[in-house]
Formats: sequence, structure tokens, C-alpha cells
Amino acid sequence: MGIVGSGIMGSGIAETTIESGYKVVLLSRTPESAKMMVETIKASFKKKIDRGNKTEDQSLEDLDRLSVTNEIAALSNCDLVIETVVEDLEVKLRVMRSLDTVCKPSTILATNTSTFPVVELAAATNRAGQVCGIHFFNPATVMKLIEIVRTLVVSEETIQRVCAFALSCKKDAVVVKDQAGFVVNALLFPYLNNAIKLLERGVATKDDIDTAMKGGCGFPMGPFALLDLIGLDTALSILNSLYGEFKDPNYAPAPLLKRMVSAGMYGRKNKVGFYNY
Ligand SMILES: NC(=O)c1ccc[n+]([C@@H]2O[C@H](COP(=O)([O-])OP(=O)(O)OC[C@H]3O[C@@H](n4cnc5c(N)ncnc54)[C@H](O)[C@@H]3O)[C@@H](O)[C@H]2O)c1
Repeated sequence: MGIVGSGIMGSGIAETTIESGYKVVLLSRTPESAKMMVETIKASFKKKIDRGNKTEDQSLEDLDRLSVTNEIAALSNCDLVIETVVEDLEVKLRVMRSLDTVCKPSTILATNTSTFPVVELAAATNRAGQVCGIHFFNPATVMKLIEIVRTLVVSEETIQRVCAFALSCKKDAVVVKDQAGFVVNALLFPYLNNAIKLLERGVATKDDIDTAMKGGCGFPMGPFALLDLIGLDTALSILNSLYGEFKDPNYAPAPLLKRMVSAGMYGRKNKVGFYNY
């Protein structure tokens, strides 16, 4: 299989799929980001070895199945390619068009988009029946769910093959309609956005809001820790798309989020967000 993009999701999906036995070719824009991605996976494997959840030999075998390239032609022979580039429709359309040109006719092309209409990406190709969403969650190695996005034009065979792929990665698959936010983000993002609005109104500090939602709802992390994990730039793009689709005020991004992204505060990925890392 092929993966396009070596950010948070590209790296997590690469780790999950090589551990599931797939041979993975990862397309990265720069050798530096490719190297960083491989280092992230190695560090994660080391933690698993230290905890006794993996052996050195398994780690080497898994890493052997991963190759990194900056030539899109290296994906030509993949059976499945998942794009995980930045949540920007123009960039994703460009990537899909290029994949359609280089990949063999039978390749399934999938997107990890959180909110964009998958059918628009499908329509940018000459194989709309073989394009769907495969929406992994963050961290992809830990989260059990994959949302499989069924467009109006995708073939049943594609959906079945992609469901089988999700199961082979030991994930739970739910098939969802091609609508912004699918299931999880449509429900999660009003909550995250309203947490920022509570903070703006001074109802409580960010630490207390996080503590409240962990202790009061049993969530493993509070909304601000989660926003930092998702990436504030990605969260803003998701809210903008949801607002664009539904015009529901719950999706209108909180001003503080917009200001933080303008200030270059992206969360964990660049070590500064609601918290410092
Ligand atoms: N972060 C999350 O929690 C999460 C969860 C599920 C799905 N997603 C989705 O996954 C996708 C990637 O998100 P991420 O969190 O990995 O983002 P990220 O910022 O960590 O990585 C983005 C990747 O896109 C690449 N990129 C940026 N501009 C590009 C361009 N012009 N051309 C080609 N590549 C470019 C970057 O080099 C990087 O590899 C998005 O569609 C996002 O909505 C994110």
C-alpha cells in the first residue's frame, strides 16, 4: 500500500499498517520529514519493546516493510493508497489527480480527510468508483475506529475491500455517509469549540475545564489537551468545513482558536498550543 504525507496521521497509519503486515511505501515531500517520521516510528517501537509488547526482531521485520520516497511514481503498483496531506482541499485535489495518473487502474485511492466531501476528490479522478474515505483517528496506532466513507458513486466492491483492510489492521470499521465530519467529528467538534468559548468567557481556567471533563465525564483527556493533540491548525480547518457545510453556530470557530493559529500555535506538533510541550 501507499501513504501520502508524513505528518501525524501519515506516520501513525504507516506504523499501524506495517505492524499489520503490509508493505508500505510512504511519499514524503522532503527527506527531513521522512527521516523524522521513521524516527517517530522507531521511538514508538522502542517503547513497545521496553514494555515487553514487541520483540527486537519483530520491530526490525516491521521496519523492513516500510520504504520512503519523494517520487510519486513509486506508488504506481500499490493496491491501496491513502492520502494524509494537510486538510486543504486544493492540495488534496492535486494529490488525487496525480495519484490517478500514476497508479495502476485497479488501485483504490482513499483519503483520510476529516471533513471535505470525498466525492469531490473522487470526481477529480477517472476512477470515482474506486475512491472512498478511510478516516483513521489520532493516534492511529491506538484508536480502534476507522470511518469508511461511502460516496454516492463508490462501488460496493471498493467498500467491501476497504472494510476487509480495516479488519486486517484490527480496527472496528463503520461505514458512514459522505457528509462533513462523518459521525465522530460532527459530534466532537461542537464540544471542543464550545470548550474554547467557555474559556473565552472566563468560566474556568483551561486546566480546570480539562480536569472537569476528565473527572465529570470519564474522558481520558480534556478538550484542550485533545485540541493540542489534534493540531490547532487542523482543528480550525475542520471547524471551517463543518461551518461551511451546515452553517450551525456551534461550528463557527471560536475567535481564540483563529488567533492562536494565526500566531503559529499549532499544539503538540510544534510544541506550543493551549499547553507547552
Ligand atoms: N490530527 C488529527 O487528529 C487527525 C485525525 C484524523 C484525520 N486527520 C486528517 O489527516 C490529514 C492530515 O492531518 P495531520 O494531523 O497528519 O496533519 P500534519 O500537519 O501533521 O501533516 C500534514 C502533512 O501534509 C503535508 N503537506 C502540507 N502541505 C502540503 C502540500 N502543499 N503538498 C503536499 N503535502 C503537504 C505535510 O508535509 C505533512 O506531511 C488531514 O486531512 C486531517 O484532517 C487528522
